[in-house]
Amino acid sequence: MRILFIGDIFGRPGRNIVKDRLPELVEKYSIDLVIANGENAAAGFGITPPLAEDLFELGIDVITTGNHVWDKREIIDYFQMADGNEHSMARRLLRPANYPSGMPGWGFYQGQKNSVPYAVINLQGRVFMASNDDPFRTADQLLKNLTAKVIFVDMHAEATSEKISLGWYLDGRVSVVVGTHTHVPTADERVLPGGTAYITDVGMTGPYDSVIGVKKELVVDRFLSGMPTRFEPASGDVRLCAVVVDCDECTGKARGIDRIMLS
Ligand SMILES: [Fe+2]
Ligand SMILES: [Fe+2]
Repeated sequence: MRILFIGDIFGRPGRNIVKDRLPELVEKYSIDLVIANGENAAAGFGITPPLAEDLFELGIDVITTGNHVWDKREIIDYFQMADGNEHSMARRLLRPANYPSGMPGWGFYQGQKNSVPYAVINLQGRVFMASNDDPFRTADQLLKNLTAKVIFVDMHAEATSEKISLGWYLDGRVSVVVGTHTHVPTADERVLPGGTAYITDVGMTGPYDSVIGVKKELVVDRFLSGMPTRFEPASGDVRLCAVVVDCDECTGKARGIDRIMLS
């Protein structure tokens, strides 16, 4: 099974480059399953139900998120639409699994693509982020109940050390651990000894003439003044950052991981 994972899709520029380039990526890399992080799809802040559905209609199978998931309040009702509807679009939009119990939405999804069972788990780190439940032990609990061999994990976290630690912790138990959230791609993609493909951060899909997606003058100004400023999405130098992972569908072990940056 060949999986394409697209890093944090930021605003309209990010959505447009996905729309323009996804078909050729699927064709070129013989992709079976497409997963993307959509936490910044709505002008950098959250995702709305229509934007999620647009991304699903482009051919994305599962959308993960992170700390921006609640920025657009209508997403709460959308998550509630998924109750009892196992494979609906709403059910294939995830929020981190280690949020406090009882929150709307789901942190994992299990489905089938091209007759291969697979699972996706979304987690969020705790270093320099909100104090959620332990992502390591949340992963342990979820893995007890998953039957798919091909298991993909999006670890949405700030600290490189926390992401690398989760990669080692899950090595041999899942097919892939990718990091998201920093919007800066790292060059450390590799298959760990137990057969888990790993990268610390896939990078953002959006405008790079920016500070992690936001108009650069506004962010520089905030550092200079310390005053609150309204962040607006940037628009220039749009790139698509992704990884392609090739997995053995019988064992779930990864055979390789390749990093992609398109402009
Ligand atoms: Fe993000
Ligand atoms: Fe984030």
